[in-house]
Amino acid sequence: SSNAMWGGRFAAGPDAIMEAINASIGYDKRLAAQDIAGSRAHAAMLAATGILRDSDAEAIREGLLTVLSEIESGSFAFSTALEDIHMNVEARLKEIVGEPAGRLHTARSRNDQVATDFRLWVRDQIDAAITGIEALIRALLTQAEAGAGWVMPGFTHLQTAQPVTWGHHMMAYVEMFSRDLSRFKDARVRMNESPLGAAALAGTSFPINRHMTAEALGFDCPMANSLDAVSARDFALEFLGAASICAMHLSRFAEELVIWSSAQFRFVTLSDRFSTGSSIMPQKKNPDAAELIRAKIGRIFGANVALMMVMKGLPLAYSKDMQEDKEQVFDAADNLMLALAAMEGMVKDMSANRDKLAAAAGSGFSTATDLADWLVRVLDMPFREAHHVTGALVALAESKNCDLPDLTLDDMKSVHDAITDEVFGVLGVDNSVASRTSYGGTAPEQVRAQVARWKEVLG
Ligand code: ARG
Repeated sequence: SSNAMWGGRFAAGPDAIMEAINASIGYDKRLAAQDIAGSRAHAAMLAATGILRDSDAEAIREGLLTVLSEIESGSFAFSTALEDIHMNVEARLKEIVGEPAGRLHTARSRNDQVATDFRLWVRDQIDAAITGIEALIRALLTQAEAGAGWVMPGFTHLQTAQPVTWGHHMMAYVEMFSRDLSRFKDARVRMNESPLGAAALAGTSFPINRHMTAEALGFDCPMANSLDAVSARDFALEFLGAASICAMHLSRFAEELVIWSSAQFRFVTLSDRFSTGSSIMPQKKNPDAAELIRAKIGRIFGANVALMMVMKGLPLAYSKDMQEDKEQVFDAADNLMLALAAMEGMVKDMSANRDKLAAAAGSGFSTATDLADWLVRVLDMPFREAHHVTGALVALAESKNCDLPDLTLDDMKSVHDAITDEVFGVLGVDNSVASRTSYGGTAPEQVRAQVARWKEVLG
């Protein structure tokens, strides 16, 4: 049988393979609530502008509410033959209210309809991402406040560099996630315009009011160009871009948690609630959540690249290629929200092992820079010479198999005889971090000031 929506021109129905490649209902049923909200706004506007009789608009309104409740309760029978969510809803509406259902699609196309639905859906996901990131930032702030003065090694090349504090390390992620937050907020501002009323591509000859539907759906205004309105998917790409960068940050942090929770490091203990065991090795406690968060960047960035590839060669306006936008964004959004929630849970529950952190902070000649700075400050040495002298002292300590604070004053003087025992005052890690008071530095007072600032920002 030919199609109920466009059967006029067709003698035969689609081949089964045609139906299989064409149908999107399997996944775009997730747009049901947005689709019905869009249709309700459209019907109300058609009535307000006199395009639709009030009685028909009322029947449509009631019928759409029934369809929504059927979908929400799970009793709605989705049909693959009806291709997508738009036609599934309209066909069911026709069963419920009869003839007026056929008037709903006046001055509208599935092209502006799907663009509207998808914008509404992505907008909700942006809001969910903002909520999720804020919750994670709060968890990080709690860790940072508790550990503003706990020393730990700071690394470059994953080699011991200089001591930092636990709080400082947590606050580095607060900065990254706060930029993710602002990326999502920026994207939301740009994407919050309504495509509805662009119709198929050219606009419509009916006297519609696009400002009215835009306002009803919470958009700031209607999109200004009907071709752009049905063709644009950059809003989805901005979401995926922001999601990719956020997932990249999550992944770096997850990697650190994997390293830090290993027996060799033991910087943190992850809670049992966010760890798993091994079926054969009884001693194992594995950081699976962190590992999976680390892996999520793959599929999220993959979605970003996939949609870029779908879009890059498409002439204006709508092409069916664009139907491939949804699964990518759905998958990326689902996995981003999951990763954010899992990371928040892990951060809330994890405990830093202060003794391990402090011991590691003092090893690996981590205060060598403090020693060189002392030579500059007290002995008025040029920094390059101080670097050289300190290097010789590190080599001496290495040959004696000890750390810098374990060298005797005679050892020190054998390298440079102007050194006094005052130097030992700068070789401790607490002293080292306390001295890094430059703005943004790791000194505990600086870290506490940043925690206070962020608490105020978040309210
Ligand atoms: N299911 C389609 C999509 O997701 C809806 C738009 C169909 N428009 C069309 N002209 N065939 O893109």
